[in-house]
Amino acid sequence: MPGLRKASGLVASAAGSFRRLFFSQIRSCSVLSTSSAKPVIAAKEPFPVDLQARKPYAWCACGHSQKQPFCDGTHKKNAPEISPLRFTLEEAKKAWLCGCKYTKNPPYCDGTHKEDFVQKADLHAQPQV
Ligand code: FES
Repeated sequence: MPGLRKASGLVASAAGSFRRLFFSQIRSCSVLSTSSAKPVIAAKEPFPVDLQARKPYAWCACGHSQKQPFCDGTHKKNAPEISPLRFTLEEAKKAWLCGCKYTKNPPYCDGTHKEDFVQKADLHAQPQV
């Protein structure tokens, strides 16, 4: 099916462009797990951090880390289906890293923590989404 192959190529190309746009400041990153496992809410506000250039970071995606917003390896025991987002930056910058773990722009806050499903949920629990 050449049409289907062409269409899937366009989707892949669009996804690549989107990824390049989204992570234009990020030098490299790993992809989040695609499993259906849901993170717990670590915080209901973002974490302000000073990120350094070329330093490897691992943003906690599961919400269980005791070193928020970064991974401390707890996901291996408490959420083995979820992996941290590993990234490095070309340039140092101040950033607000997501604490609720439901951002659509990881590792950065996109304001999702203001939504009811986060604000009405218990800390360290999975929200009803
Ligand atoms: S402890 Fe949360 S992703 Fe590693």
